[in-house]
Amino acid sequence: MKFFIDTADINEIRAANELKILDGVTTNPTLIAKTGRPFMEVVKEILEEIPDKPVSLEVASTDYEGMIKEGEMLAQLGKNVVIKIPVTIDGLKAVKYFEYKGIKTNVTLVFSPAQALLAMKAGASYISPFVGRLDDISHTGMELISQIRTIIDNYGFNSQIIVASIRNPMHVIESALIGADIATIPYKVISQLIKHPLTDIGLERFLKDWESVPDKPF
Ligand code: E4P
Repeated sequence: MKFFIDTADINEIRAANELKILDGVTTNPTLIAKTGRPFMEVVKEILEEIPDKPVSLEVASTDYEGMIKEGEMLAQLGKNVVIKIPVTIDGLKAVKYFEYKGIKTNVTLVFSPAQALLAMKAGASYISPFVGRLDDISHTGMELISQIRTIIDNYGFNSQIIVASIRNPMHVIESALIGADIATIPYKVISQLIKHPLTDIGLERFLKDWESVPDKPF
């Protein structure tokens, strides 16, 4: 299972990259806006830090022509740029266009298996179902991941599932159990994954007991 980080904050990307478990980055207009910095400055820094793993950059237009223009521009910034496109009629047409040209796409804002199926049929490289936002409205987000996994496996579609809108470590674990290809995880949740109180208590006890060992070589 691959781990992407869901952020446009270069410090978080660098910190996650130092852990050597990072397989890619996803951004969206909200995450870029949160940085308070110019778009191109942020994107160039991210691509310098992650030059060889997928980095999803989202178009802001909602019409086909606009998406093509923006996606073409973004694709020129690096060979690892993935064009993130919302699941709309114009969006699906744009996915078809980019995939035909050999440019990878990530279909975003997916909330139903029907939307995912259309994105697969359009040839999307990645599909991003948003589990946290479904949980927020009292749906079971992870159920959508199971449904999409089944559809992909039934027909052998090439699209990879990026579990998005992850809010907690359980979302990551459940994604792995279902067999999602990728989880795009906020930095806070990446940090939470390593923590366990019994690890802290156990380590403290080992260190204390180590003090009483005679003739230690280190
Ligand atoms: C997906 O790629 C999106 O960037 C993201 O996961 C959205 O998550 P949110 O619901 O926390 O905004």
